[in-house]
Amino acid sequence: MSYETILTEVKEKVGIITLNRPQAMNALNSDLMTELIEALLDFDIDEEIGAIVITGSEKVFAAGADISEMAEMSAVEMLTSSFVELFDGIRDIKKPIIAAVSGYALGGGCELAMACDMIVASEKAKFGQPEVNLGVIPGAGGTQRLTRAVGKALAMEMVLNARNLSAQEALEFGLVNYVVPVEEYLDKALKLAKRISVRAPLAVRQAKASVNKAYELSLTEALAFERNAFYFLFATEDQKEGMQAFTEKRSAKWQGK
Ligand code: HXC
Repeated sequence: MSYETILTEVKEKVGIITLNRPQAMNALNSDLMTELIEALLDFDIDEEIGAIVITGSEKVFAAGADISEMAEMSAVEMLTSSFVELFDGIRDIKKPIIAAVSGYALGGGCELAMACDMIVASEKAKFGQPEVNLGVIPGAGGTQRLTRAVGKALAMEMVLNARNLSAQEALEFGLVNYVVPVEEYLDKALKLAKRISVRAPLAVRQAKASVNKAYELSLTEALAFERNAFYFLFATEDQKEGMQAFTEKRSAKWQGK
């Protein structure tokens, strides 16, 4: 599949999506978001792929939703365009998604990174929700995911006062998994994705779904979800293979069955 605003590639069971609107700081317009979701859905059903990496360039992950596209839109046009709903498509992806972020991850760019399951940042990454400077607020999860990631006090400062976080601050406050030199961030994300992609696929899928429930359900409901996900895995061949391989002191061969 060829796209206009993103590049896609598969490397050793990892699907890689590179945001590619350098002339506009990878601003997320509706074409880019539509193509991104299409590519994610394609990777999600491809049995040869076990994990996905979304990245940008060293200078910019994404500088937010496309301001020129939004500037003249009315509230009704914003509602009926379903542009913001496209971000929800990321939540529907069952395979792990890692954001490899360098440079600016602002506004919708920060929201996109936070909608992924993990973030690997370069030392040059900057995370922020500057929408208040444009007379709006984060509309694709920023006020919610940021608050859950970094806590209320800091989220308030970032959203109300457009404070950006350096990569190191993002690490300290639990927004990102790793900070590495700029020459290494993509490689680090790819290695992490590759390691996950060779694990038992059904277990990884259930694990992602279960961790995500911690966001959405009460503890009682989430524990019940986790338990059922755990029980389900005993109906898979991979569980039999994994436990047998352990007792036989050999590597397991996963089939995703
Ligand atoms: C459209 C953008 C853009 C954006 C940058 N550009 N960000 N175009 N939408 N979000 C364009 C610029 O207009 C410029 O185009 C080119 O990219 C290069 O940008 P510069 O500003 O010249 O680069 P620089 O001086 O290096 O500054 C980089 C920057 C700055 C700090 C990232 O561009 C910036 O502040 N961008 C806006 C960040 C922002 O406010 N994001 C939130 C958007 S609202 P020309 O044609 O002049 O060369 C949002 C809401 C999400 O995300 C809600 C739900 C989806």
